[in-house]
Amino acid sequence: MGLIHSFYTQSFPPKSKFSVNDIPDLTGRVIIVTGGNTGIGKETAKALLAHNANVYIAGRSQEKVEEAIRDLKEQTGNEANFLKVDLADLHSVKAGAEEFLK
Ligand SMILES: NC(=O)c1ccc[n+]([C@@H]2O[C@H](COP(=O)([O-])OP(=O)(O)OC[C@H]3O[C@@H](n4cnc5c(N)ncnc54)[C@H](OP(=O)(O)O)[C@@H]3O)[C@@H](O)[C@H]2O)c1
Repeated sequence: MGLIHSFYTQSFPPKSKFSVNDIPDLTGRVIIVTGGNTGIGKETAKALLAHNANVYIAGRSQEKVEEAIRDLKEQTGNEANFLKVDLADLHSVKAGAEEFLK
């Protein structure tokens, strides 16, 4: 029975009860979004900026992140910050964390 129930709920998930419109005002909140220059990360950054969060987009390509920051500013009116981090390189992660804490 559990297997059939799981198969059904995974195949036909219920309608979401929480949407981007339910996010409260995030003024004063500081949020780091990794991979925020594209895909799911960019959509996440967009939703957070639209609700006034102070967003840091952590990425390995300054050029790509700055392009995303410009794009997101046009869409939300709010500007994110760039944080240089290559998640595949622990030295870069440490440097990025130190830069952020400054
Ligand atoms: N569980 C689920 O149902 C589900 C569904 C969809 C996606 N996902 C997962 O969610 C994640 C994002 O998906 P997506 O479709 O948005 O992917 P995507 O469009 O390929 O974006 C990946 C992001 O990660 C960044 N990135 C990759 N390697 C990095 C590194 N070493 N250091 C810093 N940034 C790095 C990329 O930066 P660059 O542009 O510099 O490469 C890009 O911004 C993936 O892991 C995917 O597998 C899960």
